[in-house]
Amino acid sequence: MRDHVTLVEVGARDGLQNEAQTLSVALRCELIERLADCGLTRIEAGSFVSPKWVPQMADSDAVLQQLKARSDVRYSVLTPNLRGLDGALSADAKEVAVFTAASDAFTQKNTNCSVAESLERARAVVDAARTAGIPVRGYVSTVMGCPYQGDVSIDAVLDVSQSLLEMGCYEVSLGDTIGVGTVKQTRELIRALAMQLPVAQLAVHFHDTYGQALANIHAALELGVRTVDSSVAGLGGCPYAAGASGNLASEDVVYLLQGLGLSCGVDLQQLAMTGAWISQQLQRDHSSKAGKAIAAK
Ligand code: HMG
Ligand code: MG
Repeated sequence: MRDHVTLVEVGARDGLQNEAQTLSVALRCELIERLADCGLTRIEAGSFVSPKWVPQMADSDAVLQQLKARSDVRYSVLTPNLRGLDGALSADAKEVAVFTAASDAFTQKNTNCSVAESLERARAVVDAARTAGIPVRGYVSTVMGCPYQGDVSIDAVLDVSQSLLEMGCYEVSLGDTIGVGTVKQTRELIRALAMQLPVAQLAVHFHDTYGQALANIHAALELGVRTVDSSVAGLGGCPYAAGASGNLASEDVVYLLQGLGLSCGVDLQQLAMTGAWISQQLQRDHSSKAGKAIAAK
């Protein structure tokens, strides 16, 4: 069994996009640099989406341009359409991500189009990004339930995941956008997907609304998933999923991995201090149990 897990830190994007306070470019860069200093090697730095829809992610070009280039860290940004990709390429992005969902109702609220239309937009982005030599990650939201539609079938998740990989995404991140999934559901989903798709190309992206994300990540790890998205201090939620909590806190994931004897290359003490620092900047509660306990020592 491979004993290294890659963490994809999404706090500066998924986290900050849903915080009430919009942080300055300087603070966003400081957060990202601190996260890189903790040993995180894949970090989402922003989104090239409409600032009218998600004002917190405005000026992501300035964020990308002000970050120190590090050979050991990959910064990625969300690009929903060609306009977003153009902006990302002009800001010298080295990696981008496209996003869709397994539910039409959610996709409509999130990006003002159907799943089929979002896949067409994604295909155009992937083709252009690959021509520019940029790798593309794919996201599938609502894999365990949709705030507007309710239940989501495993077949719907499989179809969209397959489409993203076939069009050239190197990895698909499975989003439990509203954090409703359970261990049983996670096992059924990952088992079904792993029968059709390489498990090495699957990542999990679990929001923690119902407090199940840690257990669900553990279930995914047991089935061979080795890429996990998480958000420092549990920042965030989703602007198009009212009431959704942030991703499971990165500190809690690192503590889980250490306990399992799985490596991830992240300094937990430093991460906990970073979580405490950003929570203070945002004047919000530090949502990581492990982070809070470590930072209080
Ligand atoms: P639209 O209305 O369908 O597109 O929006 P449009 O082409 O008609 O453009 C509308 C306006 O947006 C125009 O400006 C465009 O210029 C502008 P206006 O004329 O109103 O001034 N526009 C853009 N501006 C900046 N960057 C762009 C861009 N494209 C158009 N790339 C669009 C389509 C996707 C742009 C819009 O729906 C949008 O920005 N949505 C926000 C989506 C978003 O950021 N959601 C959160 C991230 S996804 C997520 O959190 C889930 C995830 O974490 C996984 C999980 O947890 O499940 C990944
Ligand atoms: Mg998310």
